[in-house]
Amino acid sequence: MRQRSLALLLLLRLRLWLFAVAASPALLGVLAADLNKEPFTIRISCGSFDDVHTAPTNTLWYRDFGYTGGRFANATRPSYIIPPLKTLRYFPLSDGPENCYYINNVPNGHYQVRLFFALVADPNLDSEPIFDVSVEGTLFSSLLSGWSSDDEMTFAEALVFVQDSSLSICFHSTGHGDPSILSIEVLQIDDNAYKFGPLWGNGTVLRTAKRLTCGSGKPAFDEDLNGIHWGGDRFWLGLKTLSSSSDDQPVSTENVIAETLLAPNFYPQSMYQSAIMGTDRQPSLSFEMDVTPNKNYSVWLHFAEIENGITAEEQRVFDVIINGDIAFKDIDIVRMTGERFTALVLNKTIAVSGTTLKITLQPVEGTRAIVSAIEVFEIIPAEMKTLTQEVTALRTLKGSLGLPLRFGWNGDPCVPQQHPWSGVDCQFDDTKMHWVIDGLGLDNQGLGGVIPIDVSKLQHLESINFSGNSIKGNIPFTLGTISGLRVLDLSYNKLNGSIPESLGQLTSLQTLNLNGNGLSGRVPASLGGRPLHRVRFNFTDNAGLCGIPGLHECGPHISVAAKIGMAFGVLLAFLFLVVFAACWWKRRQNIIRGQKLAAAREAPYAKSRTQFTRDVQMAKHHRPHESSRGSNNESSPHLLS
Ligand SMILES: *[C@@H]1O[C@H](CO)[C@@H](O)[C@H](O)[C@H]1NC(C)=O
Ligand SMILES: *[C@@H]1O[C@H](CO)[C@@H](O)[C@H](O)[C@H]1NC(C)=O
Ligand SMILES: *[C@@H]1O[C@H](CO)[C@@H](O)[C@H](O)[C@H]1NC(C)=O
Ligand SMILES: *[C@@H]1O[C@H](CO)[C@@H](O)[C@H](O)[C@H]1NC(C)=O
Ligand SMILES: *[C@@H]1O[C@H](CO)[C@@H](O)[C@H](O)[C@H]1NC(C)=O
Ligand SMILES: *[C@@H]1O[C@H](CO)[C@@H](O)[C@H](O)[C@H]1NC(C)=O
Ligand SMILES: *[C@@H]1O[C@H](CO)[C@@H](O)[C@H](O)[C@H]1NC(C)=O
Repeated sequence: MRQRSLALLLLLRLRLWLFAVAASPALLGVLAADLNKEPFTIRISCGSFDDVHTAPTNTLWYRDFGYTGGRFANATRPSYIIPPLKTLRYFPLSDGPENCYYINNVPNGHYQVRLFFALVADPNLDSEPIFDVSVEGTLFSSLLSGWSSDDEMTFAEALVFVQDSSLSICFHSTGHGDPSILSIEVLQIDDNAYKFGPLWGNGTVLRTAKRLTCGSGKPAFDEDLNGIHWGGDRFWLGLKTLSSSSDDQPVSTENVIAETLLAPNFYPQSMYQSAIMGTDRQPSLSFEMDVTPNKNYSVWLHFAEIENGITAEEQRVFDVIINGDIAFKDIDIVRMTGERFTALVLNKTIAVSGTTLKITLQPVEGTRAIVSAIEVFEIIPAEMKTLTQEVTALRTLKGSLGLPLRFGWNGDPCVPQQHPWSGVDCQFDDTKMHWVIDGLGLDNQGLGGVIPIDVSKLQHLESINFSGNSIKGNIPFTLGTISGLRVLDLSYNKLNGSIPESLGQLTSLQTLNLNGNGLSGRVPASLGGRPLHRVRFNFTDNAGLCGIPGLHECGPHISVAAKIGMAFGVLLAFLFLVVFAACWWKRRQNIIRGQKLAAAREAPYAKSRTQFTRDVQMAKHHRPHESSRGSNNESSPHLLS
């Protein structure tokens, strides 16, 4: 690390002063490539329809993109230091409590993400919104009331690792006004920037809590201090005194300061050309700031010996005491850097239990403390995200059920834990090290649409309540694969079709409410027996449903075999009728022929006629008798079944 820094410094000097020395060409090549590479940078001017270039550095801000909702508006033009942009994007609560910017195609690496906030320029809206901000699912900033009139509070900044080529930045409503965003900056920094110790890395997000440059009263960005882009264009608040009550004094120099602009943090030289120093009357320095209690903080202190009177070791020696504990003992800048006008950077991780962080530089007898700059970061454990396939399934569900805009459902469903999606219950899965969805409570939300087949990708669901909506279509058979499902309440919807047999596989099921739908067909036998196992279910108010006590009798249960049998029976009956009709017809022909013969033999016309009538009547009596017997016994298909 140190060696690399020295090499870089050397290279810088080579580049700056155009020294031609015999350096290893290979080494030079590698390092030059490193430094020449520009960091990945995206700046967005929220609410703007056009790209914007701002003075004095001609910084490019892209027109607004990547947002999930909201409206654009003109931004107020406050007096404090913010980028001179004219528009903003704000997110009314009707667009949902969570709204995000998704920035894709971001090379994996280490980034400084900075957001500036502003107020909507509208005389009717005078309230200052209070909201939370997260990056990659980790909540890192909660705006405090009064932010809109305080330089340092008009922006939020976090250092974060991008690991999946995309970055999500979300704004969470707290019910106090509409989050309003002026600008978003995504600035790549060195992979090892601000490496403070073992907690550092992709499991941690650093929030910039304080960054101040001492002795110059002017706030400045790295850019103003002739920094380089890998420094992330940090914002430095300028202080002339560390506290209004103390007796300290600013000092400055024009001398070149060595060991600046070094990897990984690339601090600009100007930062070290001014400082705050103790006085003879009060040789110590102290700085105090409000912090959130019970958090860890990473404190970075910057020094350079710039006082003309100090020329050797032991002329200035001091301890650094943070919240009462000695953080660094016997700091002697000249001894530690080996030279005057050379930068010294120290960092310390501090667990703070109270609400203040107090840094005291306590010099030994006869010397005075000095400090060039102070940085304080809150160390925030990064949230684990929700299992990707479950997020995808929820998005499908959102579309399929036509979830109203007010739900939001942007960003990650489960994190930040303070702002999960409404209607979604989450659980942390230790084995997968991801959040999973174990409950969906979307009852009485005026939903329509259908339940997608993909709902079964939410394999960790234990409870589903979609009761009291207008959901149409079938109950997806895939629900039968969510093996841990205990509660399934789809009552009072417009579901139709039959209850899938697969629901019988849900061995954990305790409550099944399907009442008040348009379901039809037989309740699967595998479910019908469940009440015995203390499963509570309700199938009432489904006109077409049958087959268990309390519902109407099903028509007979018709299996495929039965259907074949039935068809066969109908055919048989038909054949029987044909044969019967043929016999009857034949018999009648015989009778008629017999009578004709008899009539021909026995001449008297009248008698023959009487005989004929009687015979016909006999035949008439005979026929109904026979036919009714046949129909009773064999020919009705209805009885065969
Ligand atoms: C913003 O301000 C400009 C004038 O500077 C005005 O023309 C425009 O209508 C305003 N836009 C909105 C959304 O209020
Ligand atoms: C921060 O301090 C730790 C030890 O306290 C040290 O190992 C590390 O190198 C320092 N980081 C930088 C970038 O100076
Ligand atoms: C996070 O960092 C750890 C070690 O610091 C590494 O093993 C792991 O692969 C990183 N995770 C990702 C997703 O890059
Ligand atoms: C602070 O850091 C320690 C380890 O150094 C860790 O055990 C503790 O959980 C951290 N506290 C917070 C609030 O992150
Ligand atoms: C589902 O939601 C409805 C309406 O809010 C409620 O009455 C019902 O008890 C819930 N179902 C279950 C199984 O908790
Ligand atoms: C269910 O309702 C839809 C219309 O919502 C209709 O298209 C479909 O045919 C119905 N299915 C059954 C089995 O009744
Ligand atoms: C089932 O639902 C109906 C309304 O659809 C209700 O009247 C009845 O009490 C419910 N039965 C049980 C056992 O909960």
